[in-house]
Amino acid sequence: MASEALRGVRVARFGATERNLHTIHALAFVVMFLTGIVLYVPVIAQVFSNRPLTKGIHLVAAVAWLTAVALVAILGDRAALRRTRRELERFDDDDLRWLRRDFPAPAGRFNAGQKAHALVQAALALLFTVSGTLLWLGERNTELRLPGTIALHDASMLLAGVLVAGHIWIAISPGKQPSLEGILRGTVSADWAAEHHPKWRPRPPGRPPRPGPARLAAAAIVTGAGLVLAAAFCGWLFT
Ligand code: HEM
Ligand code: HEM
Repeated sequence: MASEALRGVRVARFGATERNLHTIHALAFVVMFLTGIVLYVPVIAQVFSNRPLTKGIHLVAAVAWLTAVALVAILGDRAALRRTRRELERFDDDDLRWLRRDFPAPAGRFNAGQKAHALVQAALALLFTVSGTLLWLGERNTELRLPGTIALHDASMLLAGVLVAGHIWIAISPGKQPSLEGILRGTVSADWAAEHHPKWRPRPPGRPPRPGPARLAAAAIVTGAGLVLAAAFCGWLFT
């Protein structure tokens, strides 16, 4: 009866802010990963012999990534981001059962694997930013050359690479079309949601408040700072 009533109904799973964040993260990750691999693997580095260009693309992608993430946080639906963060951080008894593969373990909007994945990716994003910034500063000031920085950056890359390969493999495997629709368009069918995420109570899609003058000014400052930094990277590398 219940599934009859849900047939044809679509519910909002990811808002525009969450989808934008995911797209920015995915695109930037691919560029930084590929350029990072060229810098890391000597044989590939020899084929793409222009190291300054590769490094320039790596660093400009890093600045573009951090700038775009800051812009989403400033201009986007912050209440929705806070809600999502709370959902991702909270592991209940069913989530612990899910991790022990002790089924049934009904999930909310995210299952425990998705929660763990998001938390590990967030930690890795922080490690990349800290270790990458230290690598860059260490080239300019030898006192900031800390032992282990490059090993941390490389280990983060290897772990993130394995996780993302698995993540993409799951996302494109048969039967995962509804998940993809959710992250690309925002909505999923109500009967898929009821089957895979039975504890989730979808909210009606709301309109996020328009950013006021203070937020627009902050966004302009962040964009300016990002452009200056990206231009400086290109200048330092190519002059
Ligand atoms: C470029 C190819 C990618 C595809 C096709 C893809 C696909 C998806 C899909 C379908 C979901 C929703 C899963 C669900 O909840 O049903 C999702 C969520 C997510 N994606 Fe991606 N993604 C990609 C790249 C990335 C990258 C590069 C990262 C991070 C470095 C990432 C991080 C996440 C996170 C943290 C979530 C939320 C938790 C989760 O569902 O695992 N994704 N992605
Ligand atoms: C804010 C983010 C990031 C910053 C600031 C950053 C910065 C840097 C810098 C300064 C270098 C040294 C380049 C050289 O002189 O050879 C480097 C190398 C590298 N980066 Fe990043 N990076 C970031 C994110 C990433 C991400 C997301 C990945 C992979 C997913 C990655 C993978 C690599 C790799 C593999 C190397 C080569 C290290 C080696 O030679 O052993 N980086 N990065």
